[in-house]
Amino acid sequence: MKRFLTWRDDWYLGIDEIDQQHLHLVELINQVADSVMTQNSESSNDGGAMRLVLQLQEETRQHFRDEEAFMRNHEYPQVSSHHREHALLQAELSDLIREIEEGKRRLDIETLTSLKYWLIDHVIESDMDIARYMNSR
Ligand SMILES: [Fe+2]
Repeated sequence: MKRFLTWRDDWYLGIDEIDQQHLHLVELINQVADSVMTQNSESSNDGGAMRLVLQLQEETRQHFRDEEAFMRNHEYPQVSSHHREHALLQAELSDLIREIEEGKRRLDIETLTSLKYWLIDHVIESDMDIARYMNSR
């Protein structure tokens, strides 16, 4: 079965600790997708899928913490702007979760697609700057 979000090799930063966490977040989004696709259409807020979204929120929080610690340890100059971006991403995810909980949004393919781009556009692509910085040293 084709995965909802397929990892691409050019997303590797070459920083093992961060890469492993990114792979794990991609896997979690795939688990959310699997859960959403297999749930029956009447139950809009399937507990299993929602539990995985909350897990994604928790693990993202930890990932951002670890990534910021890594950046500080390596004296990455843009750590404060990257931190602001992380805060914004967490706020976006919290908003999305609140909308689902309040019944304003369904955990459906459209929401899954938002989650997918939330992860790859920001979380992975902007982290490429960290890789570039590490390579330039
Ligand atoms: Fe990251």
